[in-house]
Amino acid sequence: MGNRNGIVLAAVCVAIMFAAGSIRAGTAVQDVIKMENKAYSEHTKAIVEFSHKKHNEEYKIGCGDCHHDDKGKPLNDLKLGDNVQGCIECHKIPGQMPGELKKEMREKKVSKKEIAAKELEYHAEAIHENCITCHKKFNKENKTKAAPQTCTQCHPKEK
Ligand code: HEC
Ligand code: HEC
Ligand code: HEC
Ligand code: HEC
Repeated sequence: MGNRNGIVLAAVCVAIMFAAGSIRAGTAVQDVIKMENKAYSEHTKAIVEFSHKKHNEEYKIGCGDCHHDDKGKPLNDLKLGDNVQGCIECHKIPGQMPGELKKEMREKKVSKKEIAAKELEYHAEAIHENCITCHKKFNKENKTKAAPQTCTQCHPKEK
């Protein structure tokens, strides 16, 4: 092999290493995600299996309907292999907003907007709002019950 070919070969090798590196740098996603976030000390409800691939491919829901940036702006151009942040990284508090806190804020005449913003700090509230809002809309528009909207449809039994 001539010297020149050797250089070309080395360049190709480096290019392949970079390509492989960029694939590894992205966040992998399972077809079905067991929604059992590690930030929770315990789950009080049965674990939900979320068919990520089906939602995207069969139900034709775009990435930006669920994933957004740090300003809440939809990430419509997201691709598999990109780095993706988990919901918990921004909706940081595990669980639902305690009923007492909501009551207390209402009694102090805190605005609805502020209460809604506080609610979104809780992981389960953000998740529920995303999933259930779409499911309700879908069921209503299609006169069906295919998309789960009651507690036990998603959390099949008490743990
Ligand atoms: C119907 C809602 C929905 C759609 C549509 C959707 N995702 Fe997701 N995705 C999620 C949820 C929920 C998770 C789990 C995140 C968590 O537990 O914090 C997730 C997780 C991921 C992860 C793994 C992140 C991690 O922390 O391990 C990647 C990567 C990802 N999604 C990419 C995409 C891409 C790319 C698209 C579009 C082709 C897409 N998603 C479409 C809701 C969705
Ligand atoms: C990088 C930070 C970040 C990540 C990651 C993130 N969010 Fe958000 N989210 C926000 C911000 C900021 C808002 C806007 C809050 C506002 O407008 O008051 C928001 C708003 C929302 C809302 C309110 C309705 C809307 O769409 O504006 C829902 C529901 C929601 N997020 C669910 C999720 C879910 C589900 C995930 C994971 C798939 C997720 N978020 C990941 C930062 C994030
Ligand atoms: C933008 C709309 C949309 C969002 C957001 C969404 N879904 Fe769905 N989901 C659907 C539709 C549409 C169906 C039912 C389609 C059918 O059966 O025809 C469905 C069905 C389901 C089903 C039953 C069938 C299956 O695929 O397992 C589960 C469970 C489910 N969704 C969980 C979730 C969870 C958990 C989230 C939030 C992390 C979520 N979905 C967010 C649209 C959405
Ligand atoms: C569309 C599916 C869906 C529906 C409907 C739903 N949930 Fe959830 N719920 C989830 C997902 C997904 C999580 C996030 C769990 C995680 O990521 O660890 C969650 C989290 C929770 C949590 C915090 C985790 C735990 O186990 O303690 C509670 C509590 C909860 N849900 C209660 C309810 C109640 C009560 C209802 C009915 C009013 C309900 N959910 C309806 C999908 C759903």
